[in-house]
This record gives sequence, structure tokens and C-alpha cells, in this order.
Amino acid sequence: MSAPSCTVVPVALGERSYEVVIGTGLLATAGSRLAPFFRRPRTVIVTDATVAPLHLATLQAGLEAGGIGSEAIIVPAGEGSKSWPVLERVVEELLAHRVERDDLVIAFGGGVIGDLAGFAAAILRRGVGFIQIPTSLLAQVDSSVGGKTGINSPLGKNLIGAFHQPRHVLIDIDVLDTLSDREFLAGYGEVVKYGLLGDADFFDWLETEGPRLRDGDKTGRIEAVRRSVAAKAGIVSRDEKEQGERALLNLGHTFGHALEAATGYSARLLHGEGVAIGMGLAFTLSARLGLCAQEIPSRVAAHFADMGMKRTLADIPGDLPDAGGLIELMGQDKKVVGGVPAFILCRAIGDAFISREVPPDAVRAVLQEAITGRRL
Ligand code: GLY
Repeated sequence: MSAPSCTVVPVALGERSYEVVIGTGLLATAGSRLAPFFRRPRTVIVTDATVAPLHLATLQAGLEAGGIGSEAIIVPAGEGSKSWPVLERVVEELLAHRVERDDLVIAFGGGVIGDLAGFAAAILRRGVGFIQIPTSLLAQVDSSVGGKTGINSPLGKNLIGAFHQPRHVLIDIDVLDTLSDREFLAGYGEVVKYGLLGDADFFDWLETEGPRLRDGDKTGRIEAVRRSVAAKAGIVSRDEKEQGERALLNLGHTFGHALEAATGYSARLLHGEGVAIGMGLAFTLSARLGLCAQEIPSRVAAHFADMGMKRTLADIPGDLPDAGGLIELMGQDKKVVGGVPAFILCRAIGDAFISREVPPDAVRAVLQEAITGRRL
């Protein structure tokens, strides 16, 4: 088999358009690749305490090889860093490093770092540019593309933020090698999402190729990331500010966010795991409402099982609230309008749509069944 090559996905957003470059060995060549974006050859990298010891030296050497000097701000790993205190620290340190309006900040990490550093860039000096170098599968296929940035409030996830598009996204598939199986599979939930919401052929391909991706096949990983990013880029180009179609990317998220809130945004449930379980519940709800064939939820669950992913409430350790408690948590979802949560439902694999007219009793019944299944 020939060596995996580099591939480029454009994100078409008028004067804010940018490219997503996907390949291997990209950290080591980051300097020459990114040099054209810099007005002066220096940058500040925002990263976390897990990524820094693994990959920061490689990135800094790669930047240096292209003549770009860098300093790093290292924050604690984990969702807790999407908070006011850590945001304040990052903004103040960026100012202390004398980042100017025309400089570029680099977000180097998973979804938390992309959201945090992107939001810090959005508000620093009324907006400086930033480059995303995502290191988790979840960030590579979802959060690094599309310009959503922000932090969490004690009242809910991602409630404080801004749309701020990156100038460029550099996706080095090699960094996935250092992810734990659990982190990889959590990100894979977001890969499957693109098949489930709009591309049945992609889901078919994943049913066959998924296990090889999980086991490390780089060519397959590049293709899965490329197809995911291309799907996201298309949606973001058509609906940057989530006035319509972009909400489809929230497939599984209304249930998933409630489960994340119920587990305290802790290691009990990673975001991508919540999304996968939530997508299973969304298909179950769709089938219950007679919108999709009864066998589809089982097909989705079978693929998750083949991959060794979490797929039901029984896979979440510890106590959970009852159905009423979970519905209450859905009320804090940022997609709530007039107190009514939006659900992404499906007519088939690859055919999702947005609904604000889901009967509350149906949601309660699906959750009740899932909770009962947990106890069996
Ligand atoms: N992660 C969903 C979006 O970017 O819209």
C-alpha cells in the first residue's frame, strides 16, 4: 500500500474562507506550512497538560524549522478548563506575551482547547486570528472546523461563546496514535454522526472499515476524517450561524448533553460517548414516532457494539436521574427556544431533520425504557 498522502478540504465562507489540511507528519512541517499566514514570525500556542508532554516539542520544532518562534500556555486537561477562571488566565497570558491584533494564536489540543483558545482569540483585542491544530479525533472531525468557540457556564455547556472562524486547520493524523482507545472511540461517535445525519454510503463504509480505523489504519483514518470534515464544511458553508441546517450536527446532542450534565461533565461520560448514546436514543425516538423503520435503531446499535463503543445508559457507571430529571436537564440545552428543546430525528440512516414538535410523552417513554433497560 502506498504511503498516505495529504488532502485539503476547503471551507467556503467568503472572505473568512479557509482550508483544512489533513495528512501525516504535519506537526514536523508546521512552520513551512503556516508561515504564509503569519505577519510576523512568532506565535503563542495554547495547549493542555496532556498534549504538551506528548506533542508540544514536535510542534515547536516544526514551527522553528519554518522560522516561527513560539511560546506556550499550558492549561489543565479536561472540560473544567472551559471556564471563566481559565479563560481569564489565557487572555491575560496572551496579553502578557504581547500578542497583537495581527498575530495568530495556535489552539493545539482537543475540543476543550479549540473552544477555549478560539474564544480567547475572539475577545482578545476585539478579535485576533487563530489556527486550529486539533489532536483528538473529536476535535479533528468536528469542533476544529466551523468557528464555534466558547466556555461552559455552571448553568450549562457552551452557553458562553462566539462564532470565530480559524484562519487555517492543520490535522495531523499521527497524533491520534497517542489517544487512548476510549478517547478514539468517543471521537468516532462524531464520525458516525456524519453518516447517520446525511450520508448513508458513508455509514455503510464505516460499518465495513470502522474496525480497521479503530485498529490504526492511517489511510482509512485520513479518509474518514476527510469525509467528516467535507460534510461539516458543506454544512457550515451553507449555514454558518446555525439558522437551520447546521443544527443537524446536533444529532444525539439533546440527549447527550443531558447525560453529560447528569454525570457532571466528568470522566464518567466523555462528550463523544454521550453523543453516541444520544444518537441511539434519537433513532429509538424516531422509530417510536413512526418516522423510521423499527430495525434501524438496532442497526446503529450493532455498529456501535462492533466498535466496542458505549451505546446505552447501562454503559454509564454510577447513578443517573430518572426520566423527569433528564428532561429537566434538557431544558438547559442551548438549542432550547421558548423552553422547547429541539430534537434531531431521522427518517432513515442518512436522512435527519430538525423537530421542535416532539411529544414530551414520547421522550419520557424512550428515556424510561432506557433507564429500565439499565436496571435489567
Ligand atoms: N459541533 C456542532 C457544530 O459545530 O455546529
